[in-house]
Amino acid sequence: MLENSNTLAAQIAAFPIENKVQLEEFRMAFISKKGAVSLLFDEMKNIAPENKKAFGAEVNLLKNLAQAKFDEFKEVIENQEDAADFDATDFTLPTTPNQLGSRHPLTLTRERIIEIFTRIGFNLSEGPEIEDDFHNFTALNFPENHPAREMQDTFFLERNPDIALRTHTSSVQVRVMENEKPPIRTLSPGRVYRNEAISARAHCMFHQVEGLYINENVSFADLKQTLYYFVKEMFGKDVNLRFRPSFFPFTEPSAEIDISCLICGGKGCNVCKHSGWVEIGGAGMVDPNVLENCGIDSKKYTGFAFGMGVERITMLKHQIKDLRLFTENDVRFLRQFKGSL
Ligand code: DAH
Repeated sequence: MLENSNTLAAQIAAFPIENKVQLEEFRMAFISKKGAVSLLFDEMKNIAPENKKAFGAEVNLLKNLAQAKFDEFKEVIENQEDAADFDATDFTLPTTPNQLGSRHPLTLTRERIIEIFTRIGFNLSEGPEIEDDFHNFTALNFPENHPAREMQDTFFLERNPDIALRTHTSSVQVRVMENEKPPIRTLSPGRVYRNEAISARAHCMFHQVEGLYINENVSFADLKQTLYYFVKEMFGKDVNLRFRPSFFPFTEPSAEIDISCLICGGKGCNVCKHSGWVEIGGAGMVDPNVLENCGIDSKKYTGFAFGMGVERITMLKHQIKDLRLFTENDVRFLRQFKGSL
């Protein structure tokens, strides 16, 4: 037994441990359940009772020897590894950049428009996308037989033709006027729907921003100044705007708002159809009938309103030629708007 134990002790002492693999080999050879020391414990049952005590003491000694060597080298190897890790870390290397997403170009435009108007005292208001005839048409002074009410423009609810998907955000100005007293200065961004075939220039779903200002003595000059300020902020100080006489049932007088073409700077090109001007929306003085329909005294108050297409403005600002790009979710398109306003 003694001889056996001496050999084992010598083996334990001689076993080379220089790395993790050897450490594990050492553990397997001597400490694990099938290791040499454990096997000696198994032999206990074959030992004569009077020798058991001495045998046990000897095996325990070997066990402690193996465990002590294991613990010592384990610590040495772990320290070595830590040191190696430390050396491998170059703190001057650039980090892997976080993959940041980008906001949708229409969101960027909407937020920019909101930012520009809230700076001059406009608040925000919202209304439902599923509207009734009164808020979308009647209150806005659309005559009963106005073509915009017909099926080719409007998505009516089949079961209830009094209900439709709103065709413009002007419906929100009706809701605001019904519920608030002048002075009113509000901006209503939102989604609108029209029964149009989808093409590069038209979609059945798009976005508008509606503006409304009602107070005593509001004039067309106020409207012009407000939109002048907006256009310069949105497109830059070199961009001009003009008001073209037009017609909307809910405003009188009415105008369409054009800006000088951003592509050719007003000289004439394909985008502006060689006119030098492109349209961004409509505007006008709120028709007194509309004020009265919404419970506002048209003798005391006047107001202006305007409506603009968010897709349209985004297309002009970023020279996007096809409206469908906004809804295709092609990341190659969307990635180009990282951080841009
Ligand atoms: N609602 C109009 C449209 O969808 C846009 C518009 C024109 C809104 C004139 C207005 C306005 O508030 O005064 O085409």
